[in-house]
Amino acid sequence: MGGVLPNLRSVQLVAPYLGEEEIASVADVLRSGQLAQGPVVASLEREFAELLGVKHAVAVNSGTAAVHCALNAIDIGEDDEVLTTPFTFAASASPILMQRGLVGFVDIDEQTFNVDLERYAAAAGPAVKAVVAVDLFGLPYDHSGAGGLRSRGIAVIEDACQAIGASRDGSAAGVRCDAAAFSFYATKNVITGEGGMLVTGDDAIAASARRFRQHGQGERYEYLELGYNYRLTDVLAAIGRAQLKRLNVLTQSRRANAAFYDEALCDLPGVTVPFVPDGAVHAYHQYTILIDAAATPNHRNRDEVRSALEQAGIATGIYYPKPLHLHPLFGGPERSGEFPVAERVAKQVLSLPIHPALSEADRTYVASVLKTVVGL
Ligand SMILES: Cc1ncc(COP(=O)(O)O)c(C=O)c1O
Repeated sequence: MGGVLPNLRSVQLVAPYLGEEEIASVADVLRSGQLAQGPVVASLEREFAELLGVKHAVAVNSGTAAVHCALNAIDIGEDDEVLTTPFTFAASASPILMQRGLVGFVDIDEQTFNVDLERYAAAAGPAVKAVVAVDLFGLPYDHSGAGGLRSRGIAVIEDACQAIGASRDGSAAGVRCDAAAFSFYATKNVITGEGGMLVTGDDAIAASARRFRQHGQGERYEYLELGYNYRLTDVLAAIGRAQLKRLNVLTQSRRANAAFYDEALCDLPGVTVPFVPDGAVHAYHQYTILIDAAATPNHRNRDEVRSALEQAGIATGIYYPKPLHLHPLFGGPERSGEFPVAERVAKQVLSLPIHPALSEADRTYVASVLKTVVGL
């Protein structure tokens, strides 16, 4: 390693941001005796819809469930194809399989790590009924191509699980689509531990999701169609309500940390900082850099950089180490080479600590250790 490392600190990759308000709200629910889905879930739904300026918000118990509700509501079924990105978490694509649909992947754009909808439009054959556009790492997808897909009868479902608080061209993530899914998983920007939300402007999609999360019931104990138990609890919704009030502060902290890293790292040879297109407000669920070993002064690859950071007490993440098409569920190693950009990027990505509890000293330490590690 070129140079001596600064003093050893310990910098976590994630740190849940919870305070007295979350604790007091949960205590209130426990005292009420109404723990399952009830009035607190209804309040969270109302507040979430208001925050985004959408007509409907339907709370569910995970982001995965929200994606599943959306695909079911637009009637994805056997042999319907749904296009999405291979460079995402499994739950952007696995609900397509839950509906017995076919997953079609389209390679990603190397700057944004996402797919632009023009490419989806070019790839869409007659079996394609929908696309799942993922706001990867908290950067909203470019919705300017959505109209072209919709005019062909192709629905746009937005996987905004990582993008609460983000916007693009003045529209909040989750708004410019037929339906969008958010996650409140314990590492997300707004958390309930487990939890999710479907948002939509479409009355029929919202009504379908409300049935689907509750065993397909219309009236109570009247089973109209297949459904699941995807309900959120009032206990968790209480945490979510307190978290939503912190959204601006939490997002601003992430953005300030990102701005610091951008400035500190943008000139590091072999390191590419996140690209943010004009008009986009990134929520920085992850701050993900690319390491190009050939261009770093000491030719260290991503895994070597990662383990050197780990030795210096800095936790990092790899999202995602292997694109979906290379996993047995979606194909396997024999599909190697099909999506070259996703395959290359998966070998180069490294996510740095960006959470709101990161101190100025922490981020300064991360940047300075990274410089030393790449050989500057
Ligand atoms: C892009 C993406 N889609 C879907 C999900 C699924 O959300 P959950 O873990 O709440 O089911 C996640 C989060 O884990 C995600 O990051």
